[in-house]
Amino acid sequence: MSESSRTAKRADGLSAHFYDIKMKTIAITNQKGGCGKTTTAVNLAAAFAQKNVRVLLIDLDAQAHSTLGFGYDPETLDKTIYDTLTNAQIPISNVVLSTGERWLNLAPSNILLSGVEYELATLHEREYVLSRQLANIDGNYEICVIDCSPSLSLLTLNALVASTDVIIPIQAHYYALEGLKQLLKTIAIIRERFNQRLETPCMLLTFVESRTTLSRQIQRQMRELFGSLVFDTVIHRTVRLAEAPSAGEPVLTYAPQSKGAAEYKALAEEIINGRAPAEDISNDNAPAEEISNNDALAEEISNNDASAEEIINDVASAEEISNAKT
Ligand SMILES: Nc1ncnc2c1ncn2[C@@H]1O[C@H](COP(=O)(O)OP(=O)(O)O)[C@@H](O)[C@H]1O
Ligand SMILES: [Mg+2]
Repeated sequence: MSESSRTAKRADGLSAHFYDIKMKTIAITNQKGGCGKTTTAVNLAAAFAQKNVRVLLIDLDAQAHSTLGFGYDPETLDKTIYDTLTNAQIPISNVVLSTGERWLNLAPSNILLSGVEYELATLHEREYVLSRQLANIDGNYEICVIDCSPSLSLLTLNALVASTDVIIPIQAHYYALEGLKQLLKTIAIIRERFNQRLETPCMLLTFVESRTTLSRQIQRQMRELFGSLVFDTVIHRTVRLAEAPSAGEPVLTYAPQSKGAAEYKALAEEIINGRAPAEDISNDNAPAEEISNNDALAEEISNNDASAEEIINDVASAEEISNAKT
């Protein structure tokens, strides 16, 4: 075990190991696919780097979309994050790649990562494999961003155990909140059992469409329910964000003047400074009257199986979550 690991004796008599990693480590997670995890990981990492912050982006998904997003062909890579997770002798610094951003390194992934669960399954302290590796490079980077796979797997558990922060991207559409309750409960348990440094998760609304009533309603209800746990910055659905991966670069360099680039820069600023930039370019929270007066809304909702409200009510309240964690 590395020098920086500690054993904390807890009130219940169990021992919880943790690694005293100073680097801010942000897991981007949601077991749902296609909600904007990779887009957020790639562009948030690039936005931090453009502020001259030393950033490591870890691709922790066998689909390797973050790796592809920086123009690398996963199948041709010599070493990936898989090697560091399966061989303690291979440090992360041996697998990182440079990117177009001077301050941003990428720990890439490829399909081999899909077998890592089996290889780690029998290991002692298998939840801490990534933490141990991050402890060894603590000091090389100020922020680490982890792009998680769409599952609550052992890999995702490793990411959450190693992290100080969690961002849950939530697609602002009808089934946005499905699965959120389970995810929040899992995170609360991880904090209790494995990682007391983990902050309360924050939610990022993605694929927001200002002109869609339902999207605005979900945004308003998320804010009512989760308050300051929802970032002020939201990410709109835009063509440039969808195009950038095929160019092999973040939207911040592919289309620096685009709305998507501005929104991810605003998110980076909100995380670093604790508030969104003054000219709040992305928050288009509609007034409540405007929403309730809109007849189209009733129709939109009655065409679906459950109302947005029903789904939201099913999710644990912010209070419930923080109670579960203390
Ligand atoms: N705000 C957005 N506007 C338009 N397209 C987006 C946006 N965010 C993500 N996409 C696209 O949607 C797809 C899924 O997003 P992705 O970030 O890969 O989700 P995940 O990693 O959660 O599976 C990708 O093709 C991506 O380019
Ligand atoms: Mg992804």
